[in-house]
Amino acid sequence: MLMLLCDTRFVALIGQLTDTHVLARDDQETEVFVDNNARLVDAVASIRAETTPVDVLIGTGDLANSGHPAEYEALLELLEPLDVPFLALGGNHDVRELLRSSFPGTPWVDAEHASWSTVVAGVRLVGLDSTTPGEHGGRLDEERCDWLDGVLRAPFDGPTLLAMHHPPFASGIRWMDMHGFPGLDLLDEVLTAHPVDRILCGHLHRPMASTFAGAPAQVGMSTVQHVALDLRPDAPVAVIDNPVGYQLIDVRPDSIVAHSRYIRTAAPVIPAWASEFDQ
Ligand SMILES: [Fe+2]
Ligand SMILES: [Fe+2]
Repeated sequence: MLMLLCDTRFVALIGQLTDTHVLARDDQETEVFVDNNARLVDAVASIRAETTPVDVLIGTGDLANSGHPAEYEALLELLEPLDVPFLALGGNHDVRELLRSSFPGTPWVDAEHASWSTVVAGVRLVGLDSTTPGEHGGRLDEERCDWLDGVLRAPFDGPTLLAMHHPPFASGIRWMDMHGFPGLDLLDEVLTAHPVDRILCGHLHRPMASTFAGAPAQVGMSTVQHVALDLRPDAPVAVIDNPVGYQLIDVRPDSIVAHSRYIRTAAPVIPAWASEFDQ
């Protein structure tokens, strides 16, 4: 019988919050499907209560709902109880300048290109800005891919996670795919030359997994409504209030396991089962 021995040493726990679509505190007019800000309150409380502390949180875009300055003020207030670093990325609902000024500690590339790269707990984290002001879909160009190439070319002894708002694969959900993603050929070239260990995305509001350039690529669930799962070629625009939450990426020497943490549906651990597995 083949025994697979795993290296269970813990390296890092990376949290991913995505598509929080925060509203201004006094916004009574914007039509939303759920209470976006209350969902983030719940997520932050849940992250604080994690039995294994999160080393860093990545916010993979659409952190604000419409990019109004008051939304970023509310976002910072809602994130304030967290005592871990927060690495923000822009989504198509964000405004780059406001995101940059709201998170001044992030090592942004420049005013037109809100990417960053850093190392936390032995893991290289790279955030790639896939947004273009005024556009719903993702777009990459030579400048951004050249920057990424330079980052990934540098020697690093450890795993690399690449975060970006727009996933580099088609979801099969018509209205989320219809804008395409120009520049993916450039990204494919870079990642083929310099592989990463995992690609973490948002934008689609529902969890899904695929691959890109040989790397596992996944979308994290939003804290607000999900895009409805409808794979018909004429699927209408539709959202659904599925259970929501955030992602925990458990990085170990020989594995990277992505977990979904649901909020508002959590049931207590059943101690009776624990003793059986502790043998
Ligand atoms: Fe979104
Ligand atoms: Fe988005």
